[in-house]
Amino acid sequence: MGFFIRSLVTQQSKQVWRAYSTNASDITVKAMVYSSYGKPSEVLKWHTYPLTPLTDDTVHVRFLASPINPADVNQVQGAYPLKPAFEQLGDTKAAVGGNEGVAEVIATGKNVNSLKVGDQVVMARSGYGTWRTHAAGPVDDFQVLPPSTNTSVIQKATLTVNPCTAYRMLKDFTPLKQGDYVIQNGGNSAVGQAVIQIAKAWGLKTVNVVRNRPEIDSLRQELLDLGATHVVTDEELGSFDMRSKMKGWFDGKPPLLGLNCVGGKSATEMARYLGHNGQYVTYGAMARAPLALPASMLIFKNISFHGFWMTRWADQHNAADRYKMFEDLIGLMDKGALSEPRWTKVDWSEGAMKHAVDAGIQGFAQGKQIVFPTSSA
Ligand SMILES: NC(=O)c1ccc[n+]([C@@H]2O[C@H](COP(=O)([O-])OP(=O)(O)OC[C@H]3O[C@@H](n4cnc5c(N)ncnc54)[C@H](OP(=O)(O)O)[C@@H]3O)[C@@H](O)[C@H]2O)c1
Repeated sequence: MGFFIRSLVTQQSKQVWRAYSTNASDITVKAMVYSSYGKPSEVLKWHTYPLTPLTDDTVHVRFLASPINPADVNQVQGAYPLKPAFEQLGDTKAAVGGNEGVAEVIATGKNVNSLKVGDQVVMARSGYGTWRTHAAGPVDDFQVLPPSTNTSVIQKATLTVNPCTAYRMLKDFTPLKQGDYVIQNGGNSAVGQAVIQIAKAWGLKTVNVVRNRPEIDSLRQELLDLGATHVVTDEELGSFDMRSKMKGWFDGKPPLLGLNCVGGKSATEMARYLGHNGQYVTYGAMARAPLALPASMLIFKNISFHGFWMTRWADQHNAADRYKMFEDLIGLMDKGALSEPRWTKVDWSEGAMKHAVDAGIQGFAQGKQIVFPTSSA
């Protein structure tokens, strides 16, 4: 039996309300799913199944945009601590790939008051599966975004992981004052770009370490344009020259916060620039090399080493805390202080998605890969 509800639809760019009926056969979901772990292009498959019918207490959403993040790739490989549930999706037991994205509510059951048709939502928890056209579920599966005036779909689709991680790491580990320095590696990563911009908006200065490459000058300029104070390569980081240069920049006040996206040798090198009682936060391991810590950093400089995981933060905080963070970040986006990450479009097709996910943790990328599951563009 179909449920009659009110739905906001777009007709020739004019939004109109109309009665809308939905049942199991009305919407076919298309999704990139996997039923076992392995190399993404080998285990991911294109799957279609009927959308679960609406009930009085559930909503239907359609996905507008979903990124491919490094953690999504690790998850498909089975190398990520958060393991998704393999659920019955039509005739297949599988997990939908992806963890982040923005969706629009297209239908609400009659007991649903906290969401309405047309609301834009993000996932309430990690591991939801966002590489799909539609989803059905209770309102608790989703969290509505604060209103915005000038925030793009790309920014909304990539809000919950990287800008939130940057925001929390800048806020939660040590009190920082206007003019203080923060040092980070992976300065050109999506997290790194958010760190640069949020830090600038809060009056902080940043030293941003990136890997050297033939087009280093244009990357350096791009990050300076975002608001980076200095951009240095990992090769420059250990040089005698750089040590004395940085001393000059810091003018007796070395950074008390270091953010490590990478690990390995350059991450150890970066820790040497922290001041006494500094906080060093590791949130990524892109180099897949251990972080070696000279004892002197702990004994004589009393540097504290931490890990940060956004998923854990979200588990330990309520929706109101998360909403407040979204408001602050969307506020920055609305006023142009926090821009879209560098990104490239991935076609919503099996071949393109498989290729993109395989490429999702390869270095020297052109930016965040984003798919638009229900866009005809
Ligand atoms: N802990 C958390 O809660 C949390 C939240 C968000 C992200 N993360 C992690 O943070 C990292 C960055 O995520 P993102 O979405 O910002 O990534 P991204 O935009 O895809 O950027 C990847 C970054 O890693 C660098 N990189 C890639 N391969 C590398 C290698 N072999 N050695 C050194 N650097 C390498 C890239 O630099 P090049 O341009 O030089 O390749 C780039 O700076 C990932 O490890 C991700 O899982 C963690």
